[in-house]
Amino acid sequence: MPAIALTAAELAALTERATQAANNSYSPYSHFRVGAAILLEADSLQGGEIVAGTNVENASYRLTSCAEQSAIAAAVTLYGPAIRIRAVAVVNLNGAACMPCGACRQTILEFSGPETVVYYPSGDGETVSTTMEGLLPAGFRLATE
Ligand code: THU
Repeated sequence: MPAIALTAAELAALTERATQAANNSYSPYSHFRVGAAILLEADSLQGGEIVAGTNVENASYRLTSCAEQSAIAAAVTLYGPAIRIRAVAVVNLNGAACMPCGACRQTILEFSGPETVVYYPSGDGETVSTTMEGLLPAGFRLATE
């Protein structure tokens, strides 16, 4: 299935939810305030909902949850294990370029296909997009029966 870009209205709604989440960032160590919003596939279980998350840091730094991971944990909590991700938007309130980190790419992949679209801020302040195929072409998948 080819990647299907969001409409301008869909992207605006997704970015708005990500920005709202970033406003709640708990980032007293890095001061890097990140928000992520995921647009779920519309199907019989879900109607294309948006679920957002923010980064939650910890004094033991490696325990930090990234915004993308928070959003996905929330989405599974709300809508169950069958969720599928149509698109993700990542924002930050620091005016910085911000692509999902490697761990987040693997986390997103768990509920995505190669065509899932990921929007993120480029260095020049623009929002740009890629796909999971572009971000993590050889991600790990456990072979199951
Ligand atoms: N961070 C995210 O929330 N998502 C990413 O994809 C990259 C990094 C957060 C983690 C940490 O709280 C802060 O940004 C600085 O690394």
